[in-house]
Amino acid sequence: MNMWEMDTATVMHGVFGDPIKHSKSPVMHNRAFRELGLNAAYAAFHVGPGRLKDAVAGIRALGFRGVNVTIPHKVEVMDYLDAIDEDARAIGAVNTIVNDDGKLTGFNTDGIGYVRSLREEAGFEVAGRKVLLLGAGGAARGVAYALAKEGAAAVYIANRTVSKAVDLAAAISPYAPAHGMSFGDIADIRGEVDLIVNNTSVGMHPNVNETPIDTSWFHDGLTVSDLIYNPPVTRLLREAEAKGAAIHGGLGMFIYQGAYAFEYWTGREAPVAVMRAAVLEAFGESSS
Ligand code: ATR
Repeated sequence: MNMWEMDTATVMHGVFGDPIKHSKSPVMHNRAFRELGLNAAYAAFHVGPGRLKDAVAGIRALGFRGVNVTIPHKVEVMDYLDAIDEDARAIGAVNTIVNDDGKLTGFNTDGIGYVRSLREEAGFEVAGRKVLLLGAGGAARGVAYALAKEGAAAVYIANRTVSKAVDLAAAISPYAPAHGMSFGDIADIRGEVDLIVNNTSVGMHPNVNETPIDTSWFHDGLTVSDLIYNPPVTRLLREAEAKGAAIHGGLGMFIYQGAYAFEYWTGREAPVAVMRAAVLEAFGESSS
């Protein structure tokens, strides 16, 4: 069939967020559906404050197969689902909903998407390695949980607001040795770490000249990863590369969180290369 034409059999998907206009998820998923010849479509929905409950009821009422949930709805949405996957519950946030004949189950693919991207793009295996996370917000929760479940030997979490780092460390401590700390405490553990992950918004467009920590001690053998994907190479990564460290940008996490969601909805292996190409093309268009 012509995949540009929807018909009465088209299986619907979407993303709920506020704001949502800049999302690259529709471009990424529609390209993937077309690549596999699936009669399915994915659209973006601007769901404002107070509208989330009705929007989720709409998934059931209209028979959507799947929905992604993004900022600011990832936590509240948990109240409106029929079941929540164990990992998503531990993380405390849902970014993917699967509709099985009216039963809605929430998953979180951010953390596992991050780990898969780290393995496939940076060749980094987490098991037995020591990691330092910068930041303890929503994004950090999924990443910290996934790294701990993957068998990290230690997860150090540094945050401007130290109490949030301590709380997150406590939450993942059943899965890996974890310690919350201040940015000032990094000096005490920096000799041990194999991987540094920036989960803060420091260095994100338009503040591209900012960097979350001093990089003068970075060295080869270290892998430095940044969840930020705009710009694709942050100042943190640029400085890390100059010190001989391996670097890993944030675009892969976005692609692979989408790949896992696609696999939950369709039961098919996600065409990751075309999904990445679609997102890169969309970025090219929006920056021109
Ligand atoms: P997200 O969902 O993207 O993780 P978030 O939950 O608001 O967003 O978390 C943002 C993270 O960036 C937090 O760790 C925040 O630190 P605080 O918990 O102390 O607020 C961190 N962050 C944001 N701006 C920062 C800055 N200028 N310096 C240091 N950390 C910053």
